[in-house]
Amino acid sequence: MILKNQSKLMQEAHLHMPQGVAENYRYWGDDQTVFVDSAKGAKLTDCDGKQYIDFRLGYGPIILGYRDDRVDQAVIRQISEGGTLSGFSTSLDTKVVKKIKELCPQIEKLRFANSGTEAVMGAVRTARGFTGRDRIAIVEGSFHGLVDEMMWKSDIEHWNAGDTCPPKIIPFGAGIPQNTRALVDFIELNDFESLEQLFATRKDSLACVLLEPIIGNAGSIAACHCWLQRLRELCTQNGTILIVDEVKTGFRVAKGGAQSLYGIYGDLTTYAKAMGNGYPVAAFGGKANIMDVVGSHEGGVVHGGTYTANLIALSAAHATLEILANTNALKTIDESGEKIRSLLGRVFTGAGIEHSFAGPPAMLGIHFSSEVPQNYRQWRKVNNSLYKNFAWKLIEYGVMLEPDSREPWFICEAHEQIDFAWLEDVVTRAIRAVL
Ligand SMILES: Cc1ncc(COP(=O)(O)O)c(C=O)c1O
Repeated sequence: MILKNQSKLMQEAHLHMPQGVAENYRYWGDDQTVFVDSAKGAKLTDCDGKQYIDFRLGYGPIILGYRDDRVDQAVIRQISEGGTLSGFSTSLDTKVVKKIKELCPQIEKLRFANSGTEAVMGAVRTARGFTGRDRIAIVEGSFHGLVDEMMWKSDIEHWNAGDTCPPKIIPFGAGIPQNTRALVDFIELNDFESLEQLFATRKDSLACVLLEPIIGNAGSIAACHCWLQRLRELCTQNGTILIVDEVKTGFRVAKGGAQSLYGIYGDLTTYAKAMGNGYPVAAFGGKANIMDVVGSHEGGVVHGGTYTANLIALSAAHATLEILANTNALKTIDESGEKIRSLLGRVFTGAGIEHSFAGPPAMLGIHFSSEVPQNYRQWRKVNNSLYKNFAWKLIEYGVMLEPDSREPWFICEAHEQIDFAWLEDVVTRAIRAVL
């Protein structure tokens, strides 16, 4: 039997890495794990030469397209002229912060990080340092990275939508110490009662509430304006820091991120993904009086790291943000997202499938239910097995996406060039095949 390259690579990888992958979420099963050979624009080519139009985009950071020349050339210039890092300050540090401040009016001061996880850690530590309080609250169904304290979730898979008791809170996996749960409260998105109760019970001990207003890890289901407004008010009244996690939404759903769409702003914000078009760069920032607690002065909040603000990351961020600020890239992305939403809607309606779309066109949530879920518990009611089968068919036919409706379809500028008629045909065939 002639083995495909995928099988050979998988077999070999098993000898050298747990589960044969470099990080858990890439393992899709021995036969399905994707090995990528190359990527350009909105296209991926796998190790057996199969091409895909990609809506997964590496979990969201690709905002312009893979191997965008404008960004890559800026990075190459930086490496050849200024090097990758020196452990000292550079003029580029301030230049990138100024670019972010131009786009995001709520940012007065900022620090850099290497990943969304690190940015969240920095923001939460800053909130605790500023308030002198320890407790934090997060929203069911959100994801804030791979730090132990954030790695508790509601056990939605083993919960029935009809249950009167809430889902159990469980760790993401082994190795998460029980005591990292002790300081974390969970609230439900768009549920006023759980919000009021949180502040009634945790009043003086709550350092921060951390949320994704458009949940990039629960199919782009979004906070309604009045709920977010009430959260903002309660944080202000109780001296609690509102941290808006824009790791997925930042520089994607609008130039100023999700907060600019709502016109409601956090005290601190985290950014990552789209700010570097795939280069590893992240940041957290916000009000100057809060951020000024960060520093090496006595009682200051510790922040730093060898690779923080490395020049590969910053030159990529500078080039990407410049493009997002000064071109129509995000408008183009929105237009492509609208086209894709329309064509999907036509196909689902034609096939008699109940469906709803959540989130902005750049980060499109697709739910097989007549109404958009308002929170994670409602997401449990959508037809996820149909979505999963549909997604696997699409992958077979050359459309790459995460086979789980919690992960939205990410759109990049390069999707403008795809053949939308081809996509509609593929989606139609995939739906027919699974019905
Ligand atoms: C909202 C949000 N916060 C934080 C993270 C963690 O980011 P990273 O994977 O870069 O550590 C993610 C990752 O998907 C995310 O979606």
